[in-house]
Amino acid sequence: MEFRLGEIENLPVADASVDVVISNCVLNLSPDKPRVWREIARVLKPGGRVAVSDLALLQPLPDSVKQSVEALIGCVAGAVLVEDTRAMAVASGLTDIKLTPKGGYIDAMMDWQDPLYREIVASIPKGSKPSDYITSLDVAARKPCDNR
Ligand SMILES: C[S@@+](CC[C@H](N)C(=O)[O-])C[C@H]1O[C@@H](n2cnc3c(N)ncnc32)[C@H](O)[C@@H]1O
Repeated sequence: MEFRLGEIENLPVADASVDVVISNCVLNLSPDKPRVWREIARVLKPGGRVAVSDLALLQPLPDSVKQSVEALIGCVAGAVLVEDTRAMAVASGLTDIKLTPKGGYIDAMMDWQDPLYREIVASIPKGSKPSDYITSLDVAARKPCDNR
């Protein structure tokens, strides 16, 4: 195993050199997510796999949440729609894309009295809950063997 310091928009590894890309709760923080997905596809060997977990959106957030710095650093305001994640993975040339939303994580956080989630609850229409907007998302994908 080897550790390298870098940015996900510019991974410090050669083309087609890694078997698997794993990431937990980082992609939402990138200001250039299409580039991150292109980097993932670039560094994977043909047949290589992606196992990413991140927060994603089921519907757009209210503007007050989108513009909140706390929500950005809390991995919420930078999250993108589940289908936008699929589109970026497809555009990067990945295949066998499987997206698995897991809303239970967000519901569980409601009991933590987390200030960010209190703020989100205050910003969304009465009767709705954060998990109507935000989900944990598992992304599995593969780089095609023929590199097409
Ligand atoms: C929410 S933490 C997740 C850390 C770890 N993956 C985990 O599951 O505990 C987000 C991490 O992503 C890093 N990060 C944010 N933007 C990044 C970028 N563009 N490139 C590389 N790392 C980034 C932050 O420094 C932070 O360590």
